[in-house]
Amino acid sequence: SGTVRVDLSGVEPGQRITVKWRGRPVFVWRRSVAAIEAASAVELDDLVDTVDSARENPNLSGDVPARDENRTADEAGEWLIVIGVCTHLGCIPLGQDGSAVGEFGGWFCPCHGSHYDTSGRIRKGPAPRNLDIPPYDLGDDLQLVIG
Ligand code: FES
Repeated sequence: SGTVRVDLSGVEPGQRITVKWRGRPVFVWRRSVAAIEAASAVELDDLVDTVDSARENPNLSGDVPARDENRTADEAGEWLIVIGVCTHLGCIPLGQDGSAVGEFGGWFCPCHGSHYDTSGRIRKGPAPRNLDIPPYDLGDDLQLVIG
């Protein structure tokens, strides 16, 4: 089936893991307080792509501003879960190992130089859209279901 289950209870604050879902990488990041604060501090005016739609994030029921609080999997904003495919031409961005995170601390696509922030939003380079978010469910027990 198209569903993947992952136990996130062993993931430490600051740690990133990659999960395969429908042949694509899904980047899971238990963000540090600093990364959450950096993402929350960004004004919509500073974004390239200011709106997330239900097509880009199936967990939404309609268009919402691409604020960090609308892109995380939990209320506290610790868990950011995005599809690890650059919205320019589909390369897999770097950053999951904690290096090559780009100028905005999230991910960097080496193919043509797109920089994503700590919310997975495009901030610099040719990519036109924020990283997509997969359909998921994350319970208080930190059992993640994608798909
Ligand atoms: Fe990522 Fe072109 S595919 S910048």
